[in-house]
Amino acid sequence: MSGQKLKIFDSLARPLKDLRISVTDQCNFRCSYCMPAEIFGPDFPFLKQTELLSFDEIVRLVRQFAKMGVEKLRITGGEPLLRKDLHLLIRELNKVEGIKDIALTTNGVFLPKQADKLRAAGLKRINVSLDAIEDEVFKKMNGRNVGTGPVLKGIAAAQKAGLGVKVNTVVKKGANESQIIPLASHFKGSGVVLRFIEFMDVGNTNGWNYESVVTKKEIVERISEVFPLETADANYYGEVADRFEYKDGTGEVGVISSVSDSFCSSCTRARLSADGKLYTCLFASSGTDIRELVRSGADDQEILANLVAVWEKRDDRYSDERQEEALSGAGTGSSTGRKQRRKIEMSYIGG
Ligand code: GTP
Ligand code: 5AD
Ligand code: SF4
Ligand code: SF4
Repeated sequence: MSGQKLKIFDSLARPLKDLRISVTDQCNFRCSYCMPAEIFGPDFPFLKQTELLSFDEIVRLVRQFAKMGVEKLRITGGEPLLRKDLHLLIRELNKVEGIKDIALTTNGVFLPKQADKLRAAGLKRINVSLDAIEDEVFKKMNGRNVGTGPVLKGIAAAQKAGLGVKVNTVVKKGANESQIIPLASHFKGSGVVLRFIEFMDVGNTNGWNYESVVTKKEIVERISEVFPLETADANYYGEVADRFEYKDGTGEVGVISSVSDSFCSSCTRARLSADGKLYTCLFASSGTDIRELVRSGADDQEILANLVAVWEKRDDRYSDERQEEALSGAGTGSSTGRKQRRKIEMSYIGG
């Protein structure tokens, strides 16, 4: 079936277009909204080397996903640049027929060493997480007392290597709202696309509640007061960020509003964890063990049939449900409100 794509839709008529692949659950940072240090301490049971999918296993799976319509890959972690020789994986993924775009989401600290190698291996673009421009605020956000210097150096190295760069800023009320305008000023006109992300209730450990969310509306209003904005069209179907252009022509900012304005109806994403489980939603409780299937000697056809079956029965729309419940007053969304599902952790599934 070389070159031929299956036309597969989930139970809500959504095609599969993007695969997010986590390559490690470890990270050198401890952002409070993702891997709070109190929980992810020295005794935390991170995955063992033997539990991780090998590069060969990942590439083999990606070949099957490409037959189902996946065109875009995003490598995530934890911190993906902690996975040894990651550029070798990128190089092999770049050869898979049907894959048009490979990107990576990182905290940026290891980019000065790796950006050139990654670009040479075929990586096109990266999204770097940076929650503040002021050192003191950033040190608190990342839980490791690291200033912004190493991340800014990473961004510069990536730009120099020819990678497209976006910056992701999670906005948490009372923690880094003060940084919205300084970050916008810093990146305006630099060619880097800054995106603000509403703090989400991923996992069970980040103490999320509605009160700590700064909504898209508020973020856009704040920026517009200083730098007038106008809405822009999405770059591609299913883009999670809403785009806004600076009226003075100096670039754009984005806002990812999973809480106040969810986007499940166009969700074309599947997620593969570092230990080979397939999840059909960021807020899922359980996944399908694909590693077991691969290691039990299944052939490509059998693997493909299993992947197709998972996607065809998919009916996830967690953020839409959260929003509907909030609008109907059915729950506050806090840990004591709405359904108390156990969810996978952000650092395990990579966002
Ligand atoms: P682009 O390819 O550059 O558009 O990347 P992206 O925005 O899809 O990926 P990135 O890893 O930079 O994610 C940015 C934010 O969007 C993170 O907070 C993700 O957790 C969130 N995000 C990405 N996909 C989804 C999704 O399907 N659902 C929800 N709720 N959030 C998502
Ligand atoms: N809410 C919103 N975004 C988050 N990220 C990590 N945890 C959360 C959360 N609870 C972001 C990271 C990274 C991306 C993959 O997800 O900052 O940029
Ligand atoms: Fe690490 Fe990114 Fe999570 Fe921060 S958000 S702890 S940098 S994986
Ligand atoms: Fe997709 Fe789940 Fe996010 Fe909705 S909440 S956009 S279904 S990953």
